[in-house]
Amino acid sequence: MARAHPEQRKPMKVIGINGSPRPTGNTSIMLKTVFEMLEQEGIETELIQVGGTDIKGCRACYACISNKNSKCSTKDGFNEIFEKMVKANGMILGSPVYFADITPELKALIDRAGFVSRTNGQLFRHKVGASVISLRRGGGVHAYDSINHLLQICQMFMVGSTYWNLGFGGRDGGEVVNDTEGMDNMCDLGKSMAFLLKKLNAS
Ligand SMILES: Cc1cc2nc3c(=O)[nH]c(=O)nc-3n(C[C@H](O)[C@H](O)[C@H](O)COP(=O)(O)O)c2cc1C
Repeated sequence: MARAHPEQRKPMKVIGINGSPRPTGNTSIMLKTVFEMLEQEGIETELIQVGGTDIKGCRACYACISNKNSKCSTKDGFNEIFEKMVKANGMILGSPVYFADITPELKALIDRAGFVSRTNGQLFRHKVGASVISLRRGGGVHAYDSINHLLQICQMFMVGSTYWNLGFGGRDGGEVVNDTEGMDNMCDLGKSMAFLLKKLNAS
């Protein structure tokens, strides 16, 4: 089969999922910083808000196994988000730390997306993924690991950076911009993600 000329290839897309109930807080600032680097490399981005929504946890009905239609049987907006995850070349999952872990909304998405993708032929296989965590003081690496469990069991390529992908910010929601190391880390993460996506898309 003839290879598509680089100019003719469909633009790549990365989606960011914000697990914070605050759409303009620290986590969203971090995700948007990664996006800036991706966009500079011609990669499309879309931010999806999950925190603060009524997304439900997995009901363990196992309909995704029996139906094999790449859908979850719970109708609460999950399937629309899941479809975007499946179509994207890459995804960044972001969460603030809540009691040393991720938010319940992001956990609900991870449980259901992980199950539906894995029971329908590993739909996330060979996508690029990264985790981003904002926190005030402690529990960041544990929360970071919570997201990475999804990436690693779904045959995804996980992108890291110069430190674990953490940014420090507090209650006002926006202080993370003062965490120079954290923000530099986000820029580097975006560049590395673009680098990997281009390598994967080159063949
Ligand atoms: C319910 C709740 C629990 C929190 N637990 C922690 C925690 O365990 N460790 C921590 O460092 N920060 C904790 N925080 C602070 C947030 O993680 C932190 O301010 C984060 O940057 C907020 O991100 P956002 O602006 O995107 O919502 C907590 C905040 C809330 C509301």
